[in-house]
Amino acid sequence: MEKKTVWIKTFGCQMNIRDSEIMSQKLAEQGYRACASLEEASLIVINTCSVRAKAEQKLFSLLGSLRAAKQANPSLRICVAGCVAQQEGKNIVERMPHVDLVIGTQQIYDLPEVLARAGTVQVRTELSETYHIPRYLQDPGSLSPAPEAEETALFSRYVTIMQGCNNFCTYCVVPFTRGREVSRRAADIIDEVTRLVGTGVREIILLGQNVNSYGRENPVCEDGAPYPFSRLLRDVAGIEGLRRLRFTTSHPKDLSDDLISCFAELDNLCPQFHLPVQSGSDAILRKMNRKYTRADYLDKVDRLRAARPDLALTTDIIVGFPGETDADFQATMELLERVRYHGSFSFKYSDRPNTAASSYTDKCSEEIKSERLRIFQRRQDEISLERNREYLDRIVDVLLESVQDDGAMGRAPTNHIVHLEKRPDASPGSFIRVRVTGAGQHSLKGVPLGS
Ligand code: SAH
Ligand code: SF4
Ligand code: F3S
Repeated sequence: MEKKTVWIKTFGCQMNIRDSEIMSQKLAEQGYRACASLEEASLIVINTCSVRAKAEQKLFSLLGSLRAAKQANPSLRICVAGCVAQQEGKNIVERMPHVDLVIGTQQIYDLPEVLARAGTVQVRTELSETYHIPRYLQDPGSLSPAPEAEETALFSRYVTIMQGCNNFCTYCVVPFTRGREVSRRAADIIDEVTRLVGTGVREIILLGQNVNSYGRENPVCEDGAPYPFSRLLRDVAGIEGLRRLRFTTSHPKDLSDDLISCFAELDNLCPQFHLPVQSGSDAILRKMNRKYTRADYLDKVDRLRAARPDLALTTDIIVGFPGETDADFQATMELLERVRYHGSFSFKYSDRPNTAASSYTDKCSEEIKSERLRIFQRRQDEISLERNREYLDRIVDVLLESVQDDGAMGRAPTNHIVHLEKRPDASPGSFIRVRVTGAGQHSLKGVPLGS
């Protein structure tokens, strides 16, 4: 019988991690088993990211290194999926003829059917304007083919609520690689979460490129009534047994008052918010097509903090966007001082295919970008440490993710990683109360109460 073993490599965001899980569940249904090393694989799936040039380069260097594996084993099948697949299509096969399959971001549910058509090289990257997310429920028991899934313990699960993006920020490739915004049916999401919680899942992370516009572009319930993200959040939070609810990502322009109220109302909605600002300069925000000003953003931050004073806020920053002056960059640094984020992801601007910004002529030099990134990150690290020190001596509930002989690791409601230096009397998936005894830049240390 044909050996069916799959090795999946995932690059990119949480949406891609979830898409890999979907592909692996589909493959498991067809009798595929996960394998730990690519040498044992009969099928290799690489789920790719195109958000910055570096992410794309990683794919091509991995593909280059797989040429020998294919020569040694001609029956090996190599599939490229995800955002680079969507963007490059048949160019991938032209550049790397040992690739058998290229499937786009709307074809992940069809992977087994595409695979079944053996023998020919296939490129399937249609991006439909009328795409619907199929009715499909995740089964945590069948996620074993994704090596990444083993790292994420089974009591914390991602649930995709929408696909695509309509915002066209001028630097961003995502609207081109993921297509137009489409929201999943609310009933499917609620069924999925209910089922997951029934199997012992404690924490759910709702995913979309811009969850705040959930339900805007297509009806998501039978009667076609308005069903905004805040309503979904309330309905999911109300599912019996769900202990922690998080979501990502939010666009500041679509952050509603009603969503802010959810932070005051819903006990199991975690006090954590990722609100990408990208720049502190109004001129740059305009050139980025972000559709909010620095003042709008700061007002939303204040209102979020008023609703939930213990909220841990994180952001994304791009430095060296075309035309960014020293004064613009200074405005970003001032915003950092004003908001004092608990943490941030910061990137040097990277030219991406099809985007408006890639044709701008006032690009910053590599030196300027590197220098600004260094300055930003150095200050953010200091602030993160100061922020984390605020937790010293506080008591936090930790959801344990891993337990070893000499310690354990888990997460606080704010999503801080908490390390325990002694093995607790509890197993992964349980909650323990911990006194914080140490604070680093990226994590906290603590001891279980009563020990
Ligand atoms: N949908 C999310 C994030 C998408 S990509 C949002 O709207 O916030 C994640 C982050 O990558 C972005 O927030 C941005 O900071 C960064 N990013 C996107 N395109 C980039 C580019 N061309 N160069 C550098 N960073 C980029
Ligand atoms: Fe990209 Fe902007 Fe859409 Fe986020 S909102 S995915 S940054 S276009
Ligand atoms: Fe990358 Fe695509 Fe996600 S470009 S960040 S994998 S949506």
